[in-house]
Amino acid sequence: MQDLLEDIAARALGAEDRGKVADYIPELAKVDPDQFAISVSTADGQLFSAGDARTPFSIQSISKVFVLALALGQVGEALWRRVGREPSGQSFDSILLLEREKGIPRNPFINAGALVTTDTFLGSASPREALGALIRFVRAASDQDDIHINEAVAKSELETAHRNFALAHYMRSHGNLLNNPDLVLGTYCHQCAIEMTCEQLALAGRFLLDTAGAPSLVSRERKRRINALMMTCGHYDGSGDFAFRVGLPGKSGVGGGILVIAPGRGSVAVWSPGLNSYGNSKLGTEAMEIFARETGWSIF
Ligand code: DON
Repeated sequence: MQDLLEDIAARALGAEDRGKVADYIPELAKVDPDQFAISVSTADGQLFSAGDARTPFSIQSISKVFVLALALGQVGEALWRRVGREPSGQSFDSILLLEREKGIPRNPFINAGALVTTDTFLGSASPREALGALIRFVRAASDQDDIHINEAVAKSELETAHRNFALAHYMRSHGNLLNNPDLVLGTYCHQCAIEMTCEQLALAGRFLLDTAGAPSLVSRERKRRINALMMTCGHYDGSGDFAFRVGLPGKSGVGGGILVIAPGRGSVAVWSPGLNSYGNSKLGTEAMEIFARETGWSIF
């Protein structure tokens, strides 16, 4: 395993086309595109890494996986009255389907759906309390204490979150946002600004493994369902392409991270800040394609 990860990291370091770093959040535009890391936490508890695996990065939309688990913990199946479970075939921040579908977002991983899960998880708590619970969940999942929110990134996103505000207000007009959009957006931008290293993210993904020794923070059935949603919706309009190339459930973020779950085998995190045209890590996707091919880890 270690040799494979070193080989993947070496190939990534030599890549000419690294994709384009997200620049719509000014703080993210400053990230050095030449970084790359991959970490694997195996079902039996071993940890393997290569590259910049101890450098913290902004997990961005990968946080939607943790918040979905917490929102389901809060309201259970009732969540599905407010958000669907179908791929959208649209970009992560699209507003297109929301009008046609009366303010019910297609799935919890596009921005509109994530705003609903954040609103649900927030409930009647304050953003500070909810974010505290989220950080405790991520720390418990990874068994790592040193995981924090980058305030500068949260502030930078909040100042430029016009589209997300539009989505939130639109859903509020349909009665599908219970809290004030300002509170929801404040919480959402902070959850996206959680920073983790590749090693920490691979360890945190263990809460979605259904194997002996994996953290039991959510039920077995819920793990199966969250994995299914990652498979079908985790990469936005690139979800089909990721499933075709990698064959494993994954969730990407515009910080360039991808969390991938190989049921029964392990949790994999990869990070390279440059994005492809779908807004998913370019070299991260390519690395996962090589990883899945070489290990044979696949659900198919
Ligand atoms: O809502 C946003 O714009 C970001 N904070 C998160 C988007 C994201 O990570 C999309 N992922 N590929």
